Amino acid sequence: MPAALHRPEPVLRHRAQPVDRNVPKAQAAAWLREGRSLIVTDRFGTGLDILAELRVQLEDPGEAADYVKKRTFREAFQSASKHLLAPVIGRKVALADAPRAGFLSELYPDHADFALPVEDAKVLSSAWDWYEQGVHFPVLGYRVHPFYGTYIPARMEHLELFGTWLANYKGARDRAIDVGTGSGVLALQMAKAGFQQVIATDINPNAIESVARQMQRLPVAPPIELEHADQFGADRGPIDLIVSNPPWMKGDVGRTLDLAMYFQDGFFERFYEKALQRLAPGGRLVFVFSNIIELSQPDVPHPIQTELDRGRFRLMEKLTRKVKPLRRRTREKVEVWELAVV
Ligand SMILES: C[S@@+](CC[C@H](N)C(=O)[O-])C[C@H]1O[C@@H](n2cnc3c(N)ncnc32)[C@H](O)[C@@H]1O
Repeated sequence: MPAALHRPEPVLRHRAQPVDRNVPKAQAAAWLREGRSLIVTDRFGTGLDILAELRVQLEDPGEAADYVKKRTFREAFQSASKHLLAPVIGRKVALADAPRAGFLSELYPDHADFALPVEDAKVLSSAWDWYEQGVHFPVLGYRVHPFYGTYIPARMEHLELFGTWLANYKGARDRAIDVGTGSGVLALQMAKAGFQQVIATDINPNAIESVARQMQRLPVAPPIELEHADQFGADRGPIDLIVSNPPWMKGDVGRTLDLAMYFQDGFFERFYEKALQRLAPGGRLVFVFSNIIELSQPDVPHPIQTELDRGRFRLMEKLTRKVKPLRRRTREKVEVWELAVV
């Protein structure tokens, strides 16, 4: 079990100014932008209305905007919205119409009464809904229940493409690893495909907690060994199949969940070094990836092609598939790259 789970920082002491629905939203949002702390005293909806107004004032560029615009907005929104607090009493948000956030009792055993940014309370509540309802993964045939702070894929095509590749895999099935397991989906796919031992690592302790809980929900526990670790974790012997759905773009990492999306300098170099040490003879390294990096960051050297050009691995197979656009037309494709040591 990981030592410390990520959670929104509880605000134990503050001198925030009380606000309710009688305070004009535009005024409250302007105060937040000036860095003034406010605490909502009537309804959760008052907090949400103020945050909506803050988004307007900060000119939310929307999901379709490019990385830099979205990032700039997000930083401005985070730094202002953290000043809008909601009271928590007895591990419940003490406001009329507050949504349920069961994670409050799980994540704050050390405090019963405190305050949380309204935005964090909202995120905790939607995470609780996902956790309770679960997300159906057709590739697994059941629902996965992601713990708070765990990456869940927004689409399924890449998992289906990996499933296609795995169905044709002819190599040994003694030991596999899923590096950066998130909700555990790829590890669970490999366990379902008959691997004797599947190691699943993640640098995010909440992901490890998520998969541990998921395994307890299953009628028969899959042979997955979890490790909260950077990349490969401890050496448990030669690995037949190394699988990773790594971050697909280069970028800064602010929040824990950014680790799922953005890699930084050195990430892939370290990965290949370890893969070369850990792969069993005849083993395979498989990346679940996307062409998004070529479309949106054409100046960033391609982290897989660059390694192939270096000559230590050769490409055995590459599968690609178009994705259904989530919000707008897209040229995005998902990919499965199968590499073998030269
Ligand atoms: C794109 S998500 C993929 C999650 C899951 N495998 C899937 O396919 O849905 C990438 C995952 O890698 C994890 N991660 C990022 N950097 C890592 C590192 N250095 N070591 C281990 N895991 C890492 C993130 O926390 C995240 O869970």
